[in-house]
Amino acid sequence: MKAVALKRYLPIDNPESLIDVELPRPVPQGRDLLVAVKAIAVNPVDTKVRAPKDKIEDAPRVLGWDAAGVVEAVGPEVTGFKPGDKVFYAGDITRPGSNSEFQLVDERIVGHAPASLSVEEAAALPLTAITAWEALFERLRVPRKSPVGKPASILIIGGAGGVGSIAIQLATKVVGLNVIATASRPESEKWVRELGAQQVINHFGDIPAQLKAIGFENVDHVLILNDTDKHFPAAAQVIAPQGTIATIVENSGPLDVSLLKAKSAGFVWEFMFTRSMFQTPDMAEQGKLLDDIAHLIDQGVIKTTLNKVLSPINAANLRQAHADLEGGRVIGKIVLKDF
Ligand SMILES: NC(=O)c1ccc[n+]([C@@H]2O[C@H](COP(=O)([O-])OP(=O)(O)OC[C@H]3O[C@@H](n4cnc5c(N)ncnc54)[C@H](OP(=O)(O)O)[C@@H]3O)[C@@H](O)[C@H]2O)c1
Repeated sequence: MKAVALKRYLPIDNPESLIDVELPRPVPQGRDLLVAVKAIAVNPVDTKVRAPKDKIEDAPRVLGWDAAGVVEAVGPEVTGFKPGDKVFYAGDITRPGSNSEFQLVDERIVGHAPASLSVEEAAALPLTAITAWEALFERLRVPRKSPVGKPASILIIGGAGGVGSIAIQLATKVVGLNVIATASRPESEKWVRELGAQQVINHFGDIPAQLKAIGFENVDHVLILNDTDKHFPAAAQVIAPQGTIATIVENSGPLDVSLLKAKSAGFVWEFMFTRSMFQTPDMAEQGKLLDDIAHLIDQGVIKTTLNKVLSPINAANLRQAHADLEGGRVIGKIVLKDF
């Protein structure tokens, strides 16, 4: 089967950083599905895993953790899928990724693809939708019912990126939060407003001052989707008493959680690979939430975050997509389709 892989960890302008390879087609065992991958999305995790370092792989390593495709075959213990089913999933960071014609993935972390979307529109969603869903409903514990009275508020820092684009929709359209999103350019501001953000401020400016200027002394929730080191102190300043801050981005220096003590405010991580990495007893929740996302899409409540399609899926196009992501200015999602 065709795949895009790496053997060495090199800067993305080096043609050897991602290479076209031929690999044996894997065989499904246990609860695995063998999926014929039709479209993939790229995420910053791909560029972080690929980041230059002094290591050489013995065998080609396939990256990529976002795909839509068709079930080709199933392992003997699979109960929820059959050959021919259209699926979408992010997969497991500890296993070979989705940048290959066929991929094995545990059925518990797979969803049935939205019927109303093309395969490239579906591929844009899984990793970021899982992240946004878990962050909002499981880590920040935003109640899954329409608010009565004044809606609770959330500050989403990094609104126009892949995760922000779906988080804004879930927060506004599904649970009726008042979303203040951050965006730094006219095109990213336009994008987040179209997705439902009611207010927009700039993440390169003074966040507490901008919030105050638009009438918010504090916010009930903060979701940090970029540069935790820089944004944590501002988040601690604007979080409401008894509110919670969630981040999805690793910090490089210490974070001063004592800033939260007087307010009894909470701080929580979201890492969407936790369930598959630790094989948690509830890992099937990811498959279920992907099915919920598909229903919300098919009911017209939320929409795909796809913004750019490259074709075919090969090393040259994948290097282009990685370079775009490393620029830090991607709006919505970049998807590659067809091998
Ligand atoms: N923990 C997890 O499970 C998990 C899951 C997914 C992603 N992540 C991580 O979360 C981060 C975001 O992922 P993503 O897919 O949303 O990335 P992305 O699509 O590449 O995000 C791009 C967006 O980031 C915004 N941005 C750039 N610099 C910023 C800054 N200093 N502060 C706030 N926003 C800034 C840009 O907005 P403007 O153009 O308006 O400046 C741009 O639209 C990455 O670090 C990724 O690795 C973690």
